[in-house]
Amino acid sequence: MSSAFDIGLEALTGVRRASQAAAPPNENAVRGTFFLETFGCQMNEHDSEKVAGVLLARGYRQVESPEAASLVLYNTCSIREKAAQKVFSRLGEFRGKPSEGKIIGVLGCVAQQEGEEIFTRAPWVSLVCGSASYRKLPELLSQLEEGRHRVTGLDTDTDETFETEITRRDNPWRAYLTIIEGCDKACAYCVVPYTRGPERSRSSESILSEVRKLAELGYTEVQLLGQTVNSYADPSRRKMRFSELLLSVAEAPGIRRVRFTTSHPRDFTPDIVEAIDAHPALCDHVHLPVQTGSTRVLRTMQRTYTREEYLGKIAMIRGARRPISITTDIIVGFPGEAEADFNETLSLLDEVQYDGAFSFKFSPRPNTLALSMADSVAEEEKGRRLMILQEQQRKIQSQRNAALVGQTFEVLVEGKSRRENQWAGHTSSNRVLNFISPERELLGQYVQVRVTNAGPNSLVGEHVC
Ligand code: 5AD
Ligand code: SF4
Repeated sequence: MSSAFDIGLEALTGVRRASQAAAPPNENAVRGTFFLETFGCQMNEHDSEKVAGVLLARGYRQVESPEAASLVLYNTCSIREKAAQKVFSRLGEFRGKPSEGKIIGVLGCVAQQEGEEIFTRAPWVSLVCGSASYRKLPELLSQLEEGRHRVTGLDTDTDETFETEITRRDNPWRAYLTIIEGCDKACAYCVVPYTRGPERSRSSESILSEVRKLAELGYTEVQLLGQTVNSYADPSRRKMRFSELLLSVAEAPGIRRVRFTTSHPRDFTPDIVEAIDAHPALCDHVHLPVQTGSTRVLRTMQRTYTREEYLGKIAMIRGARRPISITTDIIVGFPGEAEADFNETLSLLDEVQYDGAFSFKFSPRPNTLALSMADSVAEEEKGRRLMILQEQQRKIQSQRNAALVGQTFEVLVEGKSRRENQWAGHTSSNRVLNFISPERELLGQYVQVRVTNAGPNSLVGEHVC
C-alpha cells in the first residue's frame, strides 16, 4: 500500500487506550471481560465499535489481551486471501489449549464466508456471526451466556441495518457513522456483496439525529461510511439525495469536518462536487477507486464504467472551485490483464495524478465471478507490476506533496509523539501533517500549520500561532 493518507495508528495509541479502558455502566455487575481484535476496512473498525458498545452495555469490560479475556472476538476481513488467513492463524494459537472457560467468536466477513466450516477447522470456536446478522448479536450472546455451546448468525437476506445507541467510539474527535450497508454492485473480484449482503440505507432522519448527538458529545468530524457510500438511497419519505445529506450533516452545529468513503464512480454525480464547493465543512477529498486503467479489464471486472467515463468524473472533480484531493484503489494482475492493459493503468496514474493509491495484487476469492476465470497472471508478475505501479505513484505523490511546501493548512490534531513538541493530524484533504509546536496541549484542536517539508506519504510543518 502506498498512500499519504495513513496516519500511523501509533500516533493515536494514547487515545485508543483511554477509550478502551471505558468502564461498563455498573462496575459491580461485571459479567465478563472481552478482547476484540479487528482486521480490515473502516467499516469493520466501526462495526467493532458497535460490538464493543453492545458488550459494555451488557456489563462486559474490555481488556487488551486474549489471555485476560473470558470472551475473545475476532472481527475479520476476507477481501483478499492473506487477510482471511490471518484469523485462522489467530485461532490456531488456541489449538491444544483447552479454552479454559473462554468463549471464542469469529465475526465479520470470514465468519460469513466460511460459516459453520469454522467450527470444523477450529472446534474451540463457539460463535460465528457475519456482519449482516449483527442485529442478532445480543440474542446470540444471551444464548452463550445461558450455556449454549455453539451459536451462529449467518443470514444475509436482510433489509435491516446494524444501528445501536451504545457505540463505543475509539477516536474522541472523529466519529464513523454507517449510512449504507452491504453492496448491490457485482464487481467480478469482490466478496463484499456476498459477505455483507444487499445494500440497505439508513433513514436520513436517524442519521441526522445521530450527527447532532455526536456534535453534542464533542465530536467535530464525522466520517460517513458505506461500501458504496454515494449509492445512498434514503428509505424515508424525505428521499434525501446523498449530496443533500452531505450538506445537512455539514450544517449540524459543532460539526467542522465531514468525510465520506468509499464512492463508486458510476454513482458519483455533479451535485456531490457542487455540495463540496458549497460547504467548507465538506472535506476536500474524494476516494474514487478506479481498479484499472484499461476499459477492457474494467469490462471483465464488471465495474460498469469505461476509462473515459471515469476520466470524465475526474475532470468534474478537478473543475471544482477549490482543489479536491483524489485517492484510489487499484488491482494488478486481474485475470486476462495483459502488459498493454497494465500500461494503461500506469498511464491513467500519470493522467489523474492521484494524491494517494491503495494497490493490491488480484487475489481469487470464493463465490466471485473471477474465481471461474483463469488466474492468468503469475504471482511473480503480479508482484512486478505492483512494484512498478507503487514506485510510479510514489513519485507522483512526492511531486504533489512537494508543491505544498510553504502553504498553510488547517489540521485536526489527533496524535502526540513521545518526542517533545511533536504533533500529528490530518488536513481537510486527508494528508497526514506532522508538525512542531511549543503548545502544551493541542489534541482535538484545529490549528494552522505551515508545510516546511514533504515526503511521498506525509507532510512536515510548523504551527502558525
Ligand atoms: N483481490 C485484490 N484486491 C481486491 N479488492 C477487492 N477485492 C479484491 C481481490 N479479490 C480491493 C479493491 C477494493 C479494495 C477495498 O480492495 O481495490 O477497492
Ligand atoms: Fe466490492 Fe465492487 Fe461493491 Fe466495492 S462496489 S464493495 S469493489 S462489489
